[in-house]
Amino acid sequence: MIRLAILGAGIGASHLAGYRVLPNRYSVKYLCDLDSGRASEATEHDPAIKVITDLEEALPDPEIDLIDICLPPHLHVPVSLRALEAGKHVICEKPIARSTHEVDQIEAALDHSTGQLFPVFQYRYGTGFAQLRALIDTGLAGKPFAASSETHWNRQADYYSIPWRGTWDGEAGGAVLGHAIHAHDLLCHFLGPVAEVSAFLGTGVNDIEVDDCAAISMRMESGAVATSSVTLGAAVNTSRLRFCFEGLTAESGTLPYAPAEDQWTFIARGQVRQEEIDDILAGVTNPLPGFAGFLYAVAEALDGRQGNEVTFEDGRRSIEMVSAIYQSARTGQSVKLPIGKEAKFRNGWMPTSSMTASSSTTTRE
Ligand SMILES: NC(=O)c1ccc[n+]([C@@H]2O[C@H](COP(=O)([O-])OP(=O)(O)OC[C@H]3O[C@@H](n4cnc5c(N)ncnc54)[C@H](O)[C@@H]3O)[C@@H](O)[C@H]2O)c1
Repeated sequence: MIRLAILGAGIGASHLAGYRVLPNRYSVKYLCDLDSGRASEATEHDPAIKVITDLEEALPDPEIDLIDICLPPHLHVPVSLRALEAGKHVICEKPIARSTHEVDQIEAALDHSTGQLFPVFQYRYGTGFAQLRALIDTGLAGKPFAASSETHWNRQADYYSIPWRGTWDGEAGGAVLGHAIHAHDLLCHFLGPVAEVSAFLGTGVNDIEVDDCAAISMRMESGAVATSSVTLGAAVNTSRLRFCFEGLTAESGTLPYAPAEDQWTFIARGQVRQEEIDDILAGVTNPLPGFAGFLYAVAEALDGRQGNEVTFEDGRRSIEMVSAIYQSARTGQSVKLPIGKEAKFRNGWMPTSSMTASSSTTTRE
């Protein structure tokens, strides 16, 4: 049984719903939020969970094995470092950091801690991606050629009424950091690491500091290429992914926040016969989707059965990708990955030197 505290009752309430699906693996002791009313509402059916407003009550508690960080982005690194220092495991919402330098700080803390850190990329979990994974692992998909991703969502002024959103200080980035980060994780997860990125960004939808539109091209180490189109100015919220492999084309539906739970199509190509694909699809049992699937994989990893969890290295890769996107957009040049220690935006991509919550400095363009 993993005993834990959830910090933050926004998306933290959805994490809690995931823990409820796994009562034999997790025991939630605290839900912490400055807004005790919000936390009380989220726990109204869970009287055993103690609502607290000060995370200092949870962090040193020896009965806590895991800290689940669902706080605004500027708090992710300092709270992760504190939790790791206290020997806790950490689940951290995206983004795990605001620069590759901060990612290095987390790595150093992990080196000195008995805790592990799991970044949250729950979109990976569910039937559609389990099917795609099975087709790749059996060799039927074959060589990847190209992929496209659309993160076309609708965010208006009410969304930005929460003060940290839309600002460099609070959110540390725009649509490429806060929204398309899931789609980019999926592209990397199924096509392998990105070798080079080229990006154009725009702020055209809302009156905010950060980007809300993007057109991004990627060359993967495998030789495949991928494109990502991002806007927060769509009429309705849709996400769409298409992967073209030598042996098949895989295409999602348009469910915005749970692509794995949508109906996918897998169409045979070349030497592969449709019956071969359908046979493999028939053998995929429905795995737990979303947060429950993510949390199940974390529990398995903590019990020594690694393989399906989101790793710290996945989190590093996601931040390197964001860093490369901002660098490319600002310099007008493509950027090679992985990002080295000497990278131009190593200390952050913020246009102002406003990183306040950790010791990092920032790069000014
Ligand atoms: N994985 C996903 O699909 C997903 C979805 C939404 C948000 N997120 C991420 O989750 C994080 C939180 O987003 P959100 O939408 O829940 O934000 P939110 O602002 O709605 O909720 C954050 C909560 O943290 C509380 N809080 C802030 N500082 C605190 C402190 N020092 N101590 C205790 N509580 C404090 C606030 O009162 C607030 O209720 C962000 O990093 C966001 O990017 C991820």
